[in-house]
Amino acid sequence: MGYPGGMLRRAAFRMDAERAHEFALRALQVGAPALRVGSAWLKRRDASVAQELMGLRFDGPVGLAAGYDKYGRAVRGWGRLGFGFAEIGTITARAQPGNARPRLYRLPADEALVNRMGFNNDGAVVTARRIAAARRGAGAGVPIGVNIGKSRVTPLERAADDHVASFRLLRGVADFVVVNVSSPNTPGLRELQDRDHLTAILSALRDEDVSMRRFDGRPPMPLLVKLAPDLPAAQVEDAVDLSGELGMAGVVLTNTTISREGLHDPSAPGASEQGGLSGPPLRTRADAAVRIAARRASGRLVIAGVGGIMDADDAWQRIASGASLVEVWTGLVYRGPLIARDITLGLMQRMRDEGVSHISEVTGSALGA
Ligand SMILES: Cc1cc2nc3c(=O)[nH]c(=O)nc-3n(C[C@H](O)[C@H](O)[C@H](O)COP(=O)(O)O)c2cc1C
Repeated sequence: MGYPGGMLRRAAFRMDAERAHEFALRALQVGAPALRVGSAWLKRRDASVAQELMGLRFDGPVGLAAGYDKYGRAVRGWGRLGFGFAEIGTITARAQPGNARPRLYRLPADEALVNRMGFNNDGAVVTARRIAAARRGAGAGVPIGVNIGKSRVTPLERAADDHVASFRLLRGVADFVVVNVSSPNTPGLRELQDRDHLTAILSALRDEDVSMRRFDGRPPMPLLVKLAPDLPAAQVEDAVDLSGELGMAGVVLTNTTISREGLHDPSAPGASEQGGLSGPPLRTRADAAVRIAARRASGRLVIAGVGGIMDADDAWQRIASGASLVEVWTGLVYRGPLIARDITLGLMQRMRDEGVSHISEVTGSALGA
């Protein structure tokens, strides 16, 4: 499927995938002020898709997934492009360069990507400053989440301290914080999804928030945990239970998969590269994870669904499976910069067609009794 910038896309696809991504981000960074002119058109949506969740107002349910704006360079642009929220990061306590390039591959026959970026980012100090500057004045206009992860040099047993260090620096610039324990590209990181590690990290963050609130009186920071699609169902359920016990606001499901199942073209260059697979081949797994979590949480946690959402039908399905919010990354590459607007308008249209008056009625509607 094309979009008005189809020619631009063809040009971008001739570039190395990461360079094209940097180019797109730069265009948004530079173009964000100009977008204000067209923003009524880009943000055309009504009360049927507006939600109050985790104490925050989301004008639209379609957000930017983590890892697109790792450096916080286009914080003001996302809302103007029609996104209802954005996750910045993953940000680590220490700046780090990530893995050697090339580390991002397109699989066009599947509209998929494989990446092993490895948390390249400027670190919490610099990124906090950059986000703060972007949020001054007119600000971002939409909720901004900060996604944090363990620095590569930090051993797993010190992961909680590392997350707390990032959290302290970033809390003041975030509307919500996502804990990323599911990237396949930092050695050992996904072990942090085990109950013991997860308990240590999440309770340390919660306690830190409580003690910081004594000084600044801010409302509790909504904390979410982002999980992998490769976890057995029982582990997803366990993480959901734990999140409930520890007072988390929600879960983000899912990160990229290490599996290569579901590819139409498994012999595509890139398919055999080490890293996480995203886009439509991930859709079924990510959707299944949302269903498992939604059944288990029965409304106690906010679920953000991500993985292979390319259009309004995909978003509808994920919401019907139990998500209140959805996010996109790979869809931006293959469907273009208007994807959030297109999906949001598509959801509104389908609600009208099906006689549904508010998006919250769609959430979990496919789960049955
Ligand atoms: C190049 C690339 C980098 C990513 N970096 C991060 C990251 O830093 N942190 C994170 O939580 N997820 C990261 N992700 C995962 C996405 O946020 C998302 O969970 C995943 O790509 C599935 O969604 P999609 O099919 O819409 O791309 C990255 C994905 C891609 C393609």
